[in-house]
Order: sequence, then structure tokens, then C-alpha cells
Amino acid sequence: MTESPYKNIVVTGGAGFIGSNFVHYVYNNFPDVHITVLDKLTYAGNKANIASILGDRVELVVGDIADADIVDQVAAKADAIVHYAAESHNDNSLKSQDEFIQTNFIGTYTLIQAARKYDLRFHHVSTDEVYGDLPYREDLPGHGEGEGEKFTDKTPYNPSSPYSSTKAASDLIVRAWVRSFGLKATISNCSNNYGPYQHIEKFIPRQITNILSGIKPKLYGDGKNVRDWIHTEDHSSGVWTILTKGKLGETYLIGADGEKNNKEVLEQILTEMGQASDAYDRVTDRAGHDLRYAIDNTKLRTELGWEPKHTDFESGLKATIDWYRENEDWWKAEKEAVEAKYAETQKVL
Ligand SMILES: NC(=O)c1ccc[n+]([C@@H]2O[C@H](COP(=O)([O-])OP(=O)(O)OC[C@H]3O[C@@H](n4cnc5c(N)ncnc54)[C@H](O)[C@@H]3O)[C@@H](O)[C@H]2O)c1
Repeated sequence: MTESPYKNIVVTGGAGFIGSNFVHYVYNNFPDVHITVLDKLTYAGNKANIASILGDRVELVVGDIADADIVDQVAAKADAIVHYAAESHNDNSLKSQDEFIQTNFIGTYTLIQAARKYDLRFHHVSTDEVYGDLPYREDLPGHGEGEGEKFTDKTPYNPSSPYSSTKAASDLIVRAWVRSFGLKATISNCSNNYGPYQHIEKFIPRQITNILSGIKPKLYGDGKNVRDWIHTEDHSSGVWTILTKGKLGETYLIGADGEKNNKEVLEQILTEMGQASDAYDRVTDRAGHDLRYAIDNTKLRTELGWEPKHTDFESGLKATIDWYRENEDWWKAEKEAVEAKYAETQKVL
């Protein structure tokens, strides 16, 4: 257990899937740190994700990151902000864009102005989706997974969706604030996360909870889209490493060499849950669906000495399935509404 250089950290979006994991990570490993979670508790935020640790060391402030007054109040007492809050779902961003501009762009702007005012350390959590997608390489063994081109911090931005473009826009203002105003910021762009507490609208929990609800899992298009899966605990340790050891102004990519296509992941879930591996429906593809993401994590590993712990995807997936099986109370009430929303746009092929 080492001492933290920051004693009062604001975690935005700390009641969401990944933000809450980070809050638990800091709570468990750094007893000298006080955490203020600033979260609007949208449909994606859930107080239950941090309820067990709320108290002297973890405080929840329910509020909007685009509200300058509330941001000022929490920033005035902090020495660092770790910024996770976002509208995070691509499919939602294709239906309605206002919240994405407001939270991802204006919200980030509001936070960096406060970080400037109080001279706070700022870490901006972003996604590899800002880079667009990589070509699918049929010619390589394993259909290109784990091989060929990967994203680095030098890859040009080329976002495809309202979600990824608003994240890209927020990354760019953070970079500009570093140059123009000396903002003490770092940025991380991480690949697709999996693990417990992920909202059931997302790919892996949706399939698991479909099976648990007696609904056939749904696969977009031909299922060849490759994602570079990382367990959310490894994302948390990556963000902590960058916050405490990263060089100001730098961007670090977080990934754990976990490339798999969607069909493979779905087949693995089905098999693990005792179903036939082809017991799913194929549905219409997402508009502008990115083909392949892959992270080159060399910079984070070699310069900051970070290592992922969850390198066995199969056992991480099995533990995630068990968590959804054992925590029906956490997701059951929302299941019907989530599937009804998907049914408006996704047609079984
Ligand atoms: N999910 C992934 O695989 C992934 C991968 C890489 C990066 N990221 C990034 O990590 C961050 C967290 O993602 P997630 O999957 O945990 O998202 P999530 O949707 O599960 O959680 C988002 C959280 O932000 C809160 N929030 C939303 N709008 C807010 C606002 N205006 N003010 C305050 N709080 C607000 C929500 O209530 C929720 O608690 C995002 O910035 C996302 O872009 C996610």
C-alpha cells in the first residue's frame, strides 16, 4: 500500500460502470484519500454501485458536470479531478444527440475551467473510439485479431458516431487547455470494458441478461466487428497509474491485448451458460458500426510500468456471468424497457 499524492479527489461519473469501479479501487487501496463522486445519476448511474462505501471517505454529490456552480463547489475542496462522466452509449447517440453534446463536450469544458481556476490535477477518461476503426484483415491468421495495425497516441482522430465525436471533441479541448493555459492534465483512451455493474444496454451484459431472461441473444450483422476487451479493474489501475505517474500533457492508451470479434464473445457466453453456441438471433447492424479496434499499450507498460491483471478473458467473462446471475435485483427491473427500446430499431434478420 503506497501513499497517494492526492488526498481529495473528485470522480465524475463515479456511480456509473467504470467510474464506480475506480472509486472502489481507490477506496480499497488508498485509505488516505477522500473521494467526492459527482454524478447526475442518469439512467446509467446507480447509487447502489457505491452504496457499500458511502460514508466518511466517499461522498456522493448528485449534480451535473455542466452546472458550473456545483462543479465550483466540489472543485474548491479538491486537489484532483478524475473525469469519467459521459453519455456513453453509441446506439443512444444515433437516436438523440443533445445530451451527448451537453455532457461530453460542455460538461468537460465546465470541469477544465474549474480545474484551471483551482490549479487542480485533471485526468480525462476517454475512449479508443475517437480513432475511428481499423481495417479488418482477412489475410492475417485469426482474421487479423491481435495482429496488424493498432491505435497509438499518434493515431489521427477519425470518430464515426455522435458518441465518439463528442468524446474526441472533449479530448481536444483538454489538449488545448494544456497548451494554452498549462492545465495539469493527462488523457487516457481505453478499449472496450467488461465486468460487473455494466449497464445491460451494453453488448456483454445484454447477452447474459437475455439468456437469464429466456430471450435469445442478439448479434449485430455478421458479428465480425472486433473489440479489444479489457476488464474494468485493469482500466482502473491504468487510470490510477497515469494519474500518479503520468507526464502532464500526455495521452496514454489503455488496453490489455484482448481482441475478439463479437460472434466469438457471444458464442463463449452461450457455451459458458450451457446453451448451444448458435442459439442467437442476428439483427440489423448499427449504422456506421466500427469494424475493428486494437490498442498498442506499449507506452503505458514501458514508460509507467503498468500491467493488466485480468489477462484470461474466459475466467473474467465467467465471473461476470456469475455476477449478473447472482445480482438480478440490480438489473431485472430495467430489462423489459431496454429490450423494448432496442426492438424499435433492431430487426431480426
Ligand atoms: N464502457 C466502455 O467500454 C468504455 C471504454 C473506454 C472509455 N470509456 C469512458 O469511460 C467513461 C465511463 O464509461 P461507463 O461505461 O462507465 O459509462 P456509464 O454510462 O456506465 O456511466 C456514466 C456515468 O456518468 C454519469 N453522468 C452522465 N451524465 C452526467 C452529467 N451530465 N453529469 C454528471 N454525471 C453524469 C451517469 O449518471 C453515470 O453514472 C466514459 O467517459 C466513457 O467514454 C468507456
